[in-house]
Amino acid sequence: MEEILGKYKSTALKDVTVWFKAATIKDFPKDGGACVKYKDKQIAVFNYARTKTWYACQNLCPHKIEMVLSRGMIGDDKGVPKVACPLHKKTFSLESGENLNGDLEAIATYPVKIEAENVYIGFSE
Ligand code: FES
Repeated sequence: MEEILGKYKSTALKDVTVWFKAATIKDFPKDGGACVKYKDKQIAVFNYARTKTWYACQNLCPHKIEMVLSRGMIGDDKGVPKVACPLHKKTFSLESGENLNGDLEAIATYPVKIEAENVYIGFSE
């Protein structure tokens, strides 16, 4: 279990060395998420349409080690964009990855950029 969690490390914008072209913007639901694969990782990507912002994080919920976060509901918690796991509703900041309603480890987050209708996720490996 620890091994699979250890695959996911947050990447800061300044550390990005690879911009992975995930899909086109039309492939993602508005105010919803979809999962993309990068190497051996599953990444949840969210089109947070209400603020025209995109977010990416690990698809793996650290609560029960389930690949489900891309199917979670997005919303905000005092102005912080968040995703709620569809299984037991643990919520995580889409900006910092912090668990907002519990004491789970933070999830990994990744920078996203949009260029020419394409969605790119930033990685440092
Ligand atoms: S598996 Fe995500 S909250 Fe339980």
